[in-house]
Amino acid sequence: MPDLKRPAALNRLAVLTSGGDSPGMNAALRAVVRAADAAQMSCVGIADGYKGMIDGRLKPLDARDVSGILQLGGTVLGTARSTRFRTPEGREIAAKNLRNAGVDAVVVIGGDGSMQGAKLLSEEHGFAVVGIPGTIDNDLSGTDFTLGFDTAVNTAVDAMDKIRDTAASHNRLFFIEVMGRHAGWIALYSGLAGGATAVLVPESSWEEDSIRAKVLESFALGKRFCIVVVAEGGEEGGAFGVARRVTHETDLDYRVSTLGHMQRGGAPTMRDRVLGARLGDAAVAALLDGEDQIMVGERRLEIVRTPFEETWTTDDRDFAGLLGLMDRLAR
Ligand code: F6P
Repeated sequence: MPDLKRPAALNRLAVLTSGGDSPGMNAALRAVVRAADAAQMSCVGIADGYKGMIDGRLKPLDARDVSGILQLGGTVLGTARSTRFRTPEGREIAAKNLRNAGVDAVVVIGGDGSMQGAKLLSEEHGFAVVGIPGTIDNDLSGTDFTLGFDTAVNTAVDAMDKIRDTAASHNRLFFIEVMGRHAGWIALYSGLAGGATAVLVPESSWEEDSIRAKVLESFALGKRFCIVVVAEGGEEGGAFGVARRVTHETDLDYRVSTLGHMQRGGAPTMRDRVLGARLGDAAVAALLDGEDQIMVGERRLEIVRTPFEETWTTDDRDFAGLLGLMDRLAR
């Protein structure tokens, strides 16, 4: 049976990045290691997320080991999506490896699946676990923005600006597919920032006829290009299927562009670096305060702590309001 007794003091902290990588994860890692160092705690980094935890790939990290990584995209620790960690047996092996390495607390940087794993690790094996929201999808509540979202949206907007040049030259309609498996945040923000005519997201239903009418109206009003942003995964056939259905029985000249994984890479923006620094520091502070099973986030520039469960079951951010704004401004 695992020993569920919490340690009296925190001496050794493990940190990992998990799930899809996101720009800013390195900034958060650097902050965790340096904040722990400042509090006289030692750190170990776990390679490749929960997979590496099960395989026992842990190595000591000190303040110097995280030099020169702040500006790097991806994650220097590596990441993975581990199916074994979803099983009690996998988590048992992972916990044994942590205990053997003298770890008493864990910081998990990742998305909703990673937070769910973090909760189970704490519940079943007694480690104090704190999460940092690291995903380009922005689909965790308890923070206004997740780490990497700002960079990913800027990448998408940059691509949209380029596509707009060629679209306007040719008088064309473009369907641009952006990432966000179950979430339309990237589509919404890139649509708003890139001047799209419509964004199609899993959070809201839409009719092909009304999108077609909107596009035709835009061209009739003298617009030389139209962009429809499609959130990945929400629609059958993806952006190609949407494009076929929307342009059905029209002579609209259209093209489809899928931005894909380029949205996940690249140097983090200033906002993601600063967010990473703040959240890494806040995660260590939360552990020192005796917190457990919470995610740290930033809301209206304040650091907040949210119980794990709430981060994937609730969301009070105003997605619908922004979608309405997008719609009102698209002409
Ligand atoms: O969770 C981040 C994300 O980039 C999603 O937007 C996307 O659906 C998914 O990961 C892609 O995952 P993978 O890199 O495993 O194909």
